[in-house]
Formats: sequence, structure tokens, C-alpha cells
Amino acid sequence: MTVDRVDPARVPKFALRGGARMPAVGLGTFGSDRYSPQQVAAAVRDALEIGYRHFDCAAVYGNEREVGAALREAIRNGIAREELWITSKLWNDRHAEDQVVAACQRSLADLGLDYLDLYLVHWPFPNHHPPGCDVGSRSPDAVSFIPKNYLGTWRKLEELHERGLVRHIGTSNMTIPKLEMLLREAKVLPACNEMELHPHFQQPALFDYCREHDIQPIGFCPLGSPSRPERDRTPADTSPTEDPVIVRIADRRGVHPAIVCLQWALQLGAVPIPFAAKHDQLLANLQASVAEPLTDVEMAELAAIDRDCRLIKGQVFLWKDGQSWEALWDLDGEITPP
Ligand SMILES: NC(=O)c1ccc[n+]([C@@H]2O[C@H](COP(=O)([O-])OP(=O)(O)OC[C@H]3O[C@@H](n4cnc5c(N)ncnc54)[C@H](OP(=O)(O)O)[C@@H]3O)[C@@H](O)[C@H]2O)c1
Repeated sequence: MTVDRVDPARVPKFALRGGARMPAVGLGTFGSDRYSPQQVAAAVRDALEIGYRHFDCAAVYGNEREVGAALREAIRNGIAREELWITSKLWNDRHAEDQVVAACQRSLADLGLDYLDLYLVHWPFPNHHPPGCDVGSRSPDAVSFIPKNYLGTWRKLEELHERGLVRHIGTSNMTIPKLEMLLREAKVLPACNEMELHPHFQQPALFDYCREHDIQPIGFCPLGSPSRPERDRTPADTSPTEDPVIVRIADRRGVHPAIVCLQWALQLGAVPIPFAAKHDQLLANLQASVAEPLTDVEMAELAAIDRDCRLIKGQVFLWKDGQSWEALWDLDGEITPP
């Protein structure tokens, strides 16, 4: 008999500060240029049938209404709201203190929910650009990371938390120096940090920092985003699902290399949020969370193939002409000055 679903009760959960339990695999919902809002909503419907209960949404993905319709249907059909874990994110054009609450309310209305389980500041910069623009485009109003401004945004997330509109708040695309600043000042601490994480970009220092400070790492592009648009690719990018070490482990286990990437993330203690719109991929990705674990030897082999290869570089958020994307990521160990 073919099993085409995973009992959500079997999917492992990670406990966050405060005790809430987050399903260990979430479905990414960024359709990029390739999947329309309707196709992403269809994937959410299929995922709910398969047993997914965790969905990673964002206002800027442009599909929260369609995804929300699928979530509402599921709730009407008997899935309890408390069984679901729904994340959304504040887009860069809504960092101003008088815009944060309204932006969150917009996401809640689109998703058809009374509360979010997690609300993230999507990027630590208020810089934005038209969706789908070339990586070379820059916003004329772009600025560097300004701690005072980020804290102003954070205070509004704290207010959303106090008002019960969001159960947890968190960060995304952060660095250790920026998190250090936030942890010094925050009244409500970040429960999670969403970060690029795959075997070719393991970010061990940031990952360990998060774990040491009780911040749950959520791993985006866990498969190395194999289908991202051409404009988001550079000649130096590598592909974890084509790595010979991963291919060999996958062949031995009779699975796709994608599954090895997911198991690696889960066993490290991260919550991967792979996107998939195809039934077999959706099913295989959730099954990864209940599969026979990778051995210590396999985990050691995977630890050794880190290429420090960031795929989502964020070039469009740079604030000065001639700057290189590394400026966004505080590689000198200090917040890059204006
Ligand atoms: N916080 C942030 O700034 C941020 C940034 C980026 C992404 N994210 C989140 O992370 C999610 C995932 O990132 P992503 O979509 O860029 O990359 P990804 O999850 O690494 O890759 C997704 C692609 O991998 C392929 N795939 C999925 N499952 C597979 C399987 N079992 N076997 C073989 N191929 C498989 C599919 O390609 P095909 O469709 O071509 O088959 C799918 O489109 C996003 O949807 C979004 O929610 C957040």
C-alpha cells in the first residue's frame, strides 16, 4: 500500500522559548516568478492533506490572500487553528513605526486569521524595490542598518505581541552583530531567526549563536533553491543537491539529494522550510522528518562540504553605489557603518 500522507502527530516539533512547539518542517510559500498565487495555494491545500501544519508566508510573496483561502478551508473542514503554525513577515517598506501594526493586520486579514504564530522582520533594512527587478537596481532612498530605526520597528512587533496579534516575534537575514544589538535592547526576545541554511551554506557561527541564545534557527532555501530565477544566480553559486557527497548518500538511501539536505538541517536542530508545488516532492519533504536518521558518519561528511556559498545575497538592498553585497552581512564582525 502506498502511504501518501504523514500523520502530523508524528512530525517532530521544536520547543521555542516560552514552550510553544513548532512543527519541524514548514512549507515555504514563495512562488517567485515560477508559481502563481493560485499554484502556491494549490500546493498549500495539497500540503495540508499530506500532513503539513507549518506554513512560511510573507506579505511580499504576493499570495497571502490565496494561501489564506486554503488555510480557511482547512479550518472549516476540521483542522484546529491551534494545530497550525503560521508565520508571516513584515516587508521592508513597512518598517516605519506608524506602519507596522497596519501591515500585520493586513497579513492577518489576507490570511483570514486572528493571530499569527510568528511574525518576522523580513530584512533588517527598510530598503525596497519593485518585485522581480534586476539585482543591479538600487532604491534611491536606501539606507544602511540603523540600530535606532530597527529598534523602533521591533518595539512595534513587541506591541503586536503584547496585544496577542502574534504569539512570537523574530528576525530574518540577520548577522551576529545585529542580533547582539537587538538582544541588548529587546523587551520581547526573538524566538526564531530565519536564515539561509543548506549544506553549501552552513553558517556555523550564526547557527551556534542562535542556539546559544535560545533563538530557533529556521532554514530557508534548504535545498539550495534549485529553481530560483536566473537573475538571482551568479557564476560562483554552487548547488548542494548536485554535490557528489550528497548524491552518494542519497543513492545509498534510495532518496533524492533534496531529502538528504532536509535531514541534515533537521538533525542539526534547524527547521527547514522547503518550497514545493509538486505532490511527490511535498510528500517526500515531509517524510524526511520521520525517516531513518542520517548516521554520525554521514553528518560528519556533510559538515565537511560547506562551501560558504550564500545564494540569497540581497544586492538590491545595498545603499551605496559600487558597494558589494558582502556589506549587508557584517563580515568584519561589526555592523557595517553607513
Ligand atoms: N526569509 C527570507 O528572506 C527568505 C528568503 C528565501 C526564501 N525564504 C523561504 O524559504 C522557502 C524555500 O526557499 P526556496 O523556494 O527559494 O528554495 P528551496 O526550498 O531550497 O527549493 C525549492 C525548489 O526545490 C525543488 N524541490 C522541492 N522539493 C524537492 C524534492 N523533494 N526533490 C527534488 N526537488 C525538490 C522544487 O523545484 P521545482 O519546482 O523546479 O521542481 C522547488 O521549487 C521559500 O518558499 C520562502 O518561504 C525566505
